[in-house]
Formats: sequence, C-alpha cells, structure tokens
Amino acid sequence: MRGTELTQFLDGLIERIDSYIQSSDEPDQKTVDFLNAESRRKVTDLSLPLEGNGSQSILDDIDSFLRQCVKTNRPEFMNPLWGGLNIAGFAGEVISALTNQSMYTYELSPIATLIEKAIIERMMEIVGYGDGFGTLTTGGSNGNMLGMLCARQSINPLSSLDGFDGSKHVAFVSAEAHYSTLMSANVIGIGHQNLVKVSCDSRGRMKPQSLLEEINRVIGSDRIPFCIIATSGTTVRGSFDPIRELATIAHDNNIWLHVDAAWGGSCLFSKRHRYLMDGIELADSVCWDAHKMMGLPLICSVFLTKHKSILRAVCAHGDAAHYLFHEDSKDVDLGRYSLQCGRRNDSLKLWIAWREIGDAGWARMVEKYCELSDYLENLVIENEHLSMMSERKWSNICFRFEADGYDLNELNTEIRNRMMREGIHLVSRSNIGDDIVIRAVVANPLIDEEVLRSLIASVERHGKEIINQIPSEF
Ligand SMILES: Cc1ncc(COP(=O)(O)O)c(C=O)c1O
Repeated sequence: MRGTELTQFLDGLIERIDSYIQSSDEPDQKTVDFLNAESRRKVTDLSLPLEGNGSQSILDDIDSFLRQCVKTNRPEFMNPLWGGLNIAGFAGEVISALTNQSMYTYELSPIATLIEKAIIERMMEIVGYGDGFGTLTTGGSNGNMLGMLCARQSINPLSSLDGFDGSKHVAFVSAEAHYSTLMSANVIGIGHQNLVKVSCDSRGRMKPQSLLEEINRVIGSDRIPFCIIATSGTTVRGSFDPIRELATIAHDNNIWLHVDAAWGGSCLFSKRHRYLMDGIELADSVCWDAHKMMGLPLICSVFLTKHKSILRAVCAHGDAAHYLFHEDSKDVDLGRYSLQCGRRNDSLKLWIAWREIGDAGWARMVEKYCELSDYLENLVIENEHLSMMSERKWSNICFRFEADGYDLNELNTEIRNRMMREGIHLVSRSNIGDDIVIRAVVANPLIDEEVLRSLIASVERHGKEIINQIPSEF
C-alpha cells in the first residue's frame, strides 16, 4: 500500500482508534458482549484464506475485533490489576511497532538503548539501589524467574555453565505469592516441591518467624535454601510482605532476597504509601510491572538487581552470537543483560509517559487510586448486604454479598457470573482461604466515585435477585 491508498487507509485506522478511545467513558456502553467460545466462533470468520482478502479486509477485520474485544479502557473494567488507556503510553507503543527496533544491540537500536538505560537507572534510584542494573522483561512472571536465576547464580556461580542439582535447592515464597513463582521453580529446575509456601498472618503477609522455621527445617534436611521471594502487593489481597524483617533473615542465612513488586511497586512514588515497601533497598533484586498500576500498555515490566555482574553472568552467551555482539560495544549492548534475543522496545512508551507527568504525576495517580479504594471500602462497609473479606492496604477490594441460609461461595460465584454475562462491571472471582470473594481493583484512570457506586449497586441487585428479594432479569 502506498500513496493515496495508504493515506486513506491510515485515515480509516485513525478514525477507528479515535472512536474506540472516545467511547471509553460514554454512558450505557458495555465492557464486553459476553458470548461463550463456541457461540463466538460461530459468529466470527476466523479462517486464514489461501488467497489474501485484500487490503479492505484489514479495516473490516479490525472492526470485527474492536466490536468483540473486552473494552479494557472502560472505567467499569476492574477485573485484573490494570485497566484504562494511558494515551502517552499508547503513542509510544504505536511508535515502537512502527519503528520495530530490537533491543539487543546499541548498533541496531541506539536511541532506544539509551532510553531503556535511563529508565533502568531512574527506577534503580527510586528503589534505592546505588549500583546495579536491570532489564525490561516480558512481565512480572519473567522477572520472578530472573530473580530466582540470579539467586541460583549467586549461590552457585558455575551453575550457568555446569547446571546444578535442583532437587537440593529450596526457595521460599508466601502462601499468597503469585503462581508464576511455581513456574519459575519448574523452569530453573528445583521443581514445585522445592518451593516452600510460608504461612501468612491474617492480613496476608508472610510471617518472618515461620520463614525462619522453614529455613531451619530445610537446612536440617541437608538441602540448600537459596532464594526468598517476598511480595509487595499480592495478587488477591494486595498485601505487602515485611521486607525489612525478611531481609535480615535472608542476609543472616546468605539467601538471595527477590521482591515481586509487579503489582505494588508503584507505591514507591508516593511519600504517603512508600512505607509499604520499607527496606526494599536491602533486597537483592526486584521486579516491577509498569503495565499494572502505572497503566502502560502490556507489556512493560522491569527487573532490577543490585548485582550487575550476576545478571550479566546469568545472561552470558560467550562469543556464540558473533554476528550481533562485538567487543567494542560490550558496555552498551543490552542483549548482554537479557534472556531474550529479539526483544521489543517496551521502554519508549514508559519514557514518554513518564516525561509527560513526572514522578509527581505517578504519585498523584497512586494516591488517587488509594483514596478511591478507601471510598469503595466504605461503600462495602456501609452496605448491610456486603462484607469486606480482608483488611485493605492497596487498591484490591475483596468483599462478598451475605445472605442467611445460602452457600455464600455459590451465591457470590453466581453474582459474578451474572455480572460477567451482563457485560458492564467486570470484576474477578478470587479465593481467600476457603472463601470465594469478589475482587475489584482500582487501577484505571477513568474510575470515579460514581462508577464505584454503580459497581456496588450492581452486586447488590444481582445478589437480591438470586435470593429472590427482587424479581430477576435473568
Ligand atoms: C504479585 C504478582 N506477581 C507477578 C505477576 C505476574 O505478572 P505478569 O502478568 O506481568 O507476568 C502478577 C500478575 O498479576 C502478580 O499479581
């Protein structure tokens, strides 16, 4: 496509983008038209043709996609730990795709390399790492794996060359840690059985005393504790493990401390909330997703460590890639600090967004989300049919509908299912212990008090319909 045809196509594309963005806060719009996979397959042409459909099909296919996708930019989208659309980040994403840089060498992505280094250095400063380095990864899951790999490298510096006996090495996480830590245990070869889940207190925080007992048990069984993963912002409750206390235990026992701050890392911007990660500078590594609370388009995630040489050793590949890496640029090539070869330019969007609003803008965002979460928590507390299911520090609000004589797990599951089918307010169904809870997350710039009131009204209406206090629409 070239010339006038290209211009017309781009006009059509921009029109669609504009309409998608402008409709994000129009009233009475659905977040998704719920259809199960079988029904959706029936109403969508998914075939891949032998002969191409021609350029008109591009816009038709985009229209079909836009009609059917979940509108994650709607304020009622409160299901995962992210939502909304950061326009500066979106612009950066478009330019990244347009320019298609790959982050392995300075030679092939000069400006993007410097931007990524600037991001890493700034985030290290915020964390409190005077020295060190990092890399952008494919997400917090990968950041946790990299943390565990660095821990392995630290305890056994030859492991990247000779391998290691995974069955003898043990890592520790809280019982409420993200499931990616299990995948990390699998990938690095210790296996799920060697990932010890340390018990939590009633607020969902890892108990330091229990950690110590688990470490001693492992040492007593002739195995080697090598990694503790603390969580700053757990997935369900948004709890923050006590990093300072865990760091003391880690250092006393020569164990690497990695902090999974994929969700909670943004608290570091706010003077009011930074205390939640007190002691983070004592950890050996940390991962932090800018595609969660900071609202950057997926994917945008950073892994940082104090120990630059360990990250470099973990990612070392000798002289195998002579066609890419050369001695004279060894200090600027980011491909020496990453497990990937071809890698997207994910830092541009973060850099553009950060320059637009500065640290102060991120701090305001965090504080606004926490204030709205306070508001939502109060709506739950004041509502005679609802109960909070956990103490709250962050922007996860876990609650449920209560009714005498009903199985509350079934009742709340059904409420959530009905909300999903209705397609307006999207929230998560989660578990705390044996209880099923509704988890709403405030991490979307369009959320305001009115949206939160409508969320509560929706839960209440569905709950009452199910217990027949009001007539059912389903
Ligand atoms: C605490 C925590 N850590 C890690 C992850 C994984 O992050 P990602 O989806 O970026 O891989 C999540 C995802 O929700 C999370 O909640």
